[in-house]
Amino acid sequence: MTKIRKIVLSEKDMPRQWYNLAADIKVPPFMSPDGPVPPEAWAPVFPMNLVEQEYSTQRWIDIPEGVLDLLTRWRPAPMHRAYALEEAIGTPARIYYKNESFSPAGSHKGNTAVAQAWYNKQFGIKRLTTETGAGQWGSALAFACALVGLECKVFMVRISFDQKPYRKLIMQTYGAKCFASPSNETQAGKAILAKTPDTPGSLGIAISEAIESAVTDPTGETRYSLGSVLNHVMLHQTIIGLEAKKQLEIAGEKKVDVVIGCVGGGSNFAGLAFPFVYDKINGAKIDIIPVEPASCPSLTKGHYVYDHGDTAKMTPLVAMYSLGHNFMPEPIHAGGLRYHGMAPLVSRAAKEGLISPISIHQLECYEAGMIFAKTEGIIPAPETTHAIAATIREAKKAKEEGKEKVILFNFSGHGLMDLVGYDKYLSGQLKNYDLPDSVIAENFKELEGYPRPE
Ligand SMILES: Cc1ncc(COP(=O)(O)O)c(C=O)c1O
Repeated sequence: MTKIRKIVLSEKDMPRQWYNLAADIKVPPFMSPDGPVPPEAWAPVFPMNLVEQEYSTQRWIDIPEGVLDLLTRWRPAPMHRAYALEEAIGTPARIYYKNESFSPAGSHKGNTAVAQAWYNKQFGIKRLTTETGAGQWGSALAFACALVGLECKVFMVRISFDQKPYRKLIMQTYGAKCFASPSNETQAGKAILAKTPDTPGSLGIAISEAIESAVTDPTGETRYSLGSVLNHVMLHQTIIGLEAKKQLEIAGEKKVDVVIGCVGGGSNFAGLAFPFVYDKINGAKIDIIPVEPASCPSLTKGHYVYDHGDTAKMTPLVAMYSLGHNFMPEPIHAGGLRYHGMAPLVSRAAKEGLISPISIHQLECYEAGMIFAKTEGIIPAPETTHAIAATIREAKKAKEEGKEKVILFNFSGHGLMDLVGYDKYLSGQLKNYDLPDSVIAENFKELEGYPRPE
């Protein structure tokens, strides 16, 4: 047996600290009409132990033993060498992927779900609320709440709720309550239903509902949990890249040339890429590529602005690349990539030229997903296919240039609950959407008069 396909770490080799990119690049503060938002202002929304992490600029942060213990249910995650994909493309590149589909709920989201549930539990919280797009995050948080003993309430974007009944059942099996958003559970949901009863929903709307549901609980024992975007979520995900570095070393790779991840709110990309961004800041030559859908191109077509994280404007202003908080994405099948904004840390890294975003249409992504399924054998989530499509492009480029590049991408989740999307692709019902500049310009009229990040 000469080919080693899976590079595995033992539990004792798991990273003991997370890497915090906020130590190495400066992100403009959250803003309210009264100026920068102090940490205390978040107290009704998040437990203060997580708020502390959100504002931290310490480079390395210890992973508590309790969180490590939860992570070992499935971590360390294997890194695979994609021999079969390489062969199909005929590329001289060596392709590796981190297999985050290994987690019980099927994606990278478990990494921050167990950390957030643990910190909330430590703080004495009894219940978490959240939103979910594709259903991956809701499943992961429901799983984490079950492990630590918290109640869980999930607002699921209407279109996914209808397309993915099994995701809802996973959440319910873990003991969570799941509502289609917009819902009649909140004032924000009722207001949107009154105006647009047929709306497919959006992550921005579901976030408004989940926050409202947490902060209006009269017992004060409920907090909100977010599966992407915020600094502490990016932090928890860095275990992916930190493991990958050790695994590349075991595989005998002295350097990596290209690092790729799909981006919705930015967390799986950040998790894999930020430890390599750190190397790049310190002189390494690496192309680091976040990949977004052409129909929801916040990094490649949005503007670097202060905008709200949600549609009902309940969140403070966040410095990020955005398409405007009113942006209503086309109902493409990568539900987890249909978010109007982008994590402030990912946005800032893009603004400073440390990462090089691209966008790809959904048909090319599904085609890549099919090639991957038929070669490597795992059916990718529609979100993940964006990273695979970019990897195939890079591998073909390496072939044309005759270069032995090392490409690493994040396999953020499996698609076994997303087969409706594959069905639509196979029966020719999917099409590509381009976002017209006029729509973006219209959305930005709402942001006139807002402060501008430097
Ligand atoms: C499998 C998978 N990959 C990627 C994403 C995108 O989120 P993020 O950009 O935060 O990683 C999602 C979101 O739901 C997802 O489920």
